[in-house]
Amino acid sequence: TTPFTIAIDGPAAAGKGTLSRLIADQYGFHHLDTGLIYRATAKALLDAGLPLDDEAMAETMARKVDLAGLDRAVLSKHEIGEAASKVAVMPAVRRVLVEAQRAFSLKEPGTVLDGRDIGTVICPDAPVKIYVTASAEVRAKRRYDEIIDAGGSADYQAIFEGVQRRDERDMGRADSPLRPAEDAHLLDTSEMSIEAAFQAAKSIIDAVL
Ligand code: C5P
Repeated sequence: TTPFTIAIDGPAAAGKGTLSRLIADQYGFHHLDTGLIYRATAKALLDAGLPLDDEAMAETMARKVDLAGLDRAVLSKHEIGEAASKVAVMPAVRRVLVEAQRAFSLKEPGTVLDGRDIGTVICPDAPVKIYVTASAEVRAKRRYDEIIDAGGSADYQAIFEGVQRRDERDMGRADSPLRPAEDAHLLDTSEMSIEAAFQAAKSIIDAVL
């Protein structure tokens, strides 16, 4: 058997992460949240007091990222996501991260990679590609609810503007912009529960597996 790769792409806060974890559990596949790699690179620059647009240093930091040591808990902060999207526009950074992601995608018995360019650049031959999206309003509301449910305080308008800013940066960059691969299945979760989105993804995967 050859390893089976599932590519999940989409904008920030579309629910890719949750969906990818459910899929990986369902099929017993390895999961890589590729956003964490860009987050770890950005955090290394911030911790060293270096500017986020120093391409040579960013490349050095990206080379040092250990895919096995990525810790969501330390990287989940909104500011790190915002910084990650600035680091992710630099071609030197993206270039050094391609091989490690491809190597991960070949693990047995199969893998789920989620990010922005998995179906278009990292794993263009993946047998299943899903582009998960939702309106910017719905994505901002979900993020807002998450913070409130966790006992925090949040400003919906500020979150909404942050989501829009991140979309513009991720879709507008020249190298590996966020867009659906031609052969991707579009999954708009604006009016779907996580369970419904999972069932929809499962039908797409089961038709190919
Ligand atoms: O998905 P997450 O919010 O953790 O990603 C942080 C940032 O990393 C994204 O906004 C994007 O700019 C970048 N990224 C990327 N390519 C990927 C995954 C994430 O450019 N495959």
